[in-house]
Amino acid sequence: MKITLLGAGGFVGSHLSEHLTRELGHEVLALDVTADKLGHVQGSGFEFRHVDIAQDDHGLEEAISEGDLVIDLVAYANPSLYVETPLEVFDLNFTQNLKVAHLCSRHRRRLIQYSSAEVYGKAQDGTSYIEDETDFVLGPVVKHRWIYAAAKGLLERVLHAQGLEGTIEYTIIRPFNFIGPRIDYLVVPGTMGGPRVFAHFMSALLGDGPLFLVDGGTAHRAFLHIEDANCALATILANPEAARNQAFNVGNPNNDLSVRDLAEKMKQLYEELTGRRSGSELVDVSGEAFYGPGYEDSNRLPPNVEKLGALGWEPLKNIDDTLRETMIYYLEEQAGALLEAPSQAAAV
Ligand code: UGA
Repeated sequence: MKITLLGAGGFVGSHLSEHLTRELGHEVLALDVTADKLGHVQGSGFEFRHVDIAQDDHGLEEAISEGDLVIDLVAYANPSLYVETPLEVFDLNFTQNLKVAHLCSRHRRRLIQYSSAEVYGKAQDGTSYIEDETDFVLGPVVKHRWIYAAAKGLLERVLHAQGLEGTIEYTIIRPFNFIGPRIDYLVVPGTMGGPRVFAHFMSALLGDGPLFLVDGGTAHRAFLHIEDANCALATILANPEAARNQAFNVGNPNNDLSVRDLAEKMKQLYEELTGRRSGSELVDVSGEAFYGPGYEDSNRLPPNVEKLGALGWEPLKNIDDTLRETMIYYLEEQAGALLEAPSQAAAV
């Protein structure tokens, strides 16, 4: 099958490009504004096109018409951006993705849309998030971090309505904190805002800088190894009928921990891996100081993954292996790359 992969140049796309071509034998037509993370994906069956979907409607439509199936990863997915540039976040995550949905509808292409765990918003009473039962609960408008969750949630609702009217076939994936090699980018220790939490803590450890705990580090996240995430997509591709017009959580409920525990675990793993004592200390910082006004955290519940489990998928990598393997990549490949934040890659 030929798959049009939008946002292929981001962290998730760089892994999916490899998995879809090498493991699953598909052809991939990859679109993005950057190919920096795609150097390892070579050979027949893979074509990269430099297309900005917000600027090049023709290039986008042509690519969608060429594929048998479209996977859309295009997104701004770093909370610092939701606070700094909320309108750009809305435009990319809703308006541009809606355009993709309309084009899929016009060309009768099935769409696999990556959404976000963030659509659930603030954790309410309950043990886990269940796709077709749990309410979406967002904070007030002045906490503009929630524009991202609102945009992603609205896109899901439009896809659902289009599905009801029979104008599109779609599957929604809600990722819960995928991590692995090439996630985000490293920063100068002490930097606030910028990438997501793993990259911040890795940067701090490499430079003996502070491990900032936003609002006490009490929020929880459940981390999923990117290889388990690839297998989740493979399961969805293998079950087109069962996955038609459905949303699936993709995460690992067994890998749930607080951000404070994450910092302590990464520090301990860093000392084991390097054989040296880390100079990094855990430092409390407020959400507003770290991200700016308008930030509010989503204290996330773990995902319920029974729905995708019923199709045969289960996450296999535990939290220690997930963190260790990702940290080894940064220790081996990136230790010299403590950079100022580059321009943000616009993909999950
Ligand atoms: C982000 C996106 O909003 C989601 O759409 C996406 O699905 C998710 O990443 C993901 O990677 O799957 P979030 O989990 O809030 O959501 O992103 P992080 O920036 O990694 O924050 C995780 C937690 O760590 C938050 O509580 C944050 O306040 C905290 N944090 C972050 C710190 O305590 N210290 C830091 O240095 C950075």
